[in-house]
Amino acid sequence: MASTRDAAIGEILVQPDDLQHRVRELAREISRDYEGREPLLVCVLKGAVFFLADLMRSLEVPCEVDFMAVSSYGSATQTSGVVRILKDLDASIEGRDVIIVEDIVDSGLTLQYLLRNLRARGPASLAVCALLTKPERRRVDLSPRYVGFEIADKFAIGYGLDHGERYRNLPYVAALKVEQDQAI
Ligand code: IMP
Ligand code: MG
Repeated sequence: MASTRDAAIGEILVQPDDLQHRVRELAREISRDYEGREPLLVCVLKGAVFFLADLMRSLEVPCEVDFMAVSSYGSATQTSGVVRILKDLDASIEGRDVIIVEDIVDSGLTLQYLLRNLRARGPASLAVCALLTKPERRRVDLSPRYVGFEIADKFAIGYGLDHGERYRNLPYVAALKVEQDQAI
């Protein structure tokens, strides 16, 4: 685990217990909404992996998972608005009840692209489950059906979220220290 003395780790935004509790609540909600169906979870790599693993283990409906990787950020903290598919899904989603599992919705540009792209493949339904959202930063009009936590306009790290590929293994979500942020 990354050291908690790391100077780049700022204030804790979501504690481990709150993460676990909320993820289980989301799983219960999804299990109710998808009763009698077999949703396909589309996990957006790499940030959503930790969230997906916890969420999926608490789901009470039969479900499957597939992975997709897109690039919208390099190691900087601003989106370019340009989205590229680095890894596509393994299987067709035609006629499936698809739930996109995302780590965080910031500007919303990545999600907007994903929604358009996946909708064009003819799923029976398409919903979004995002662990975190930063409503203040939104540049497109979209709101995920399932949201874990709304957070303030701070760059978040931990529980899957990275800064320059580090800090994903923190068991909580923290803000990246501003001093570091400015040094990017
Ligand atoms: P968006 O296109 O601006 O909504 O950003 C989408 C992607 O950028 C997210 O799925 C994350 O991978 C990354 N991202 C956005 N905000 C943060 C953050 O605060 N910490 C870490 N990654 C972030
Ligand atoms: Mg992401």
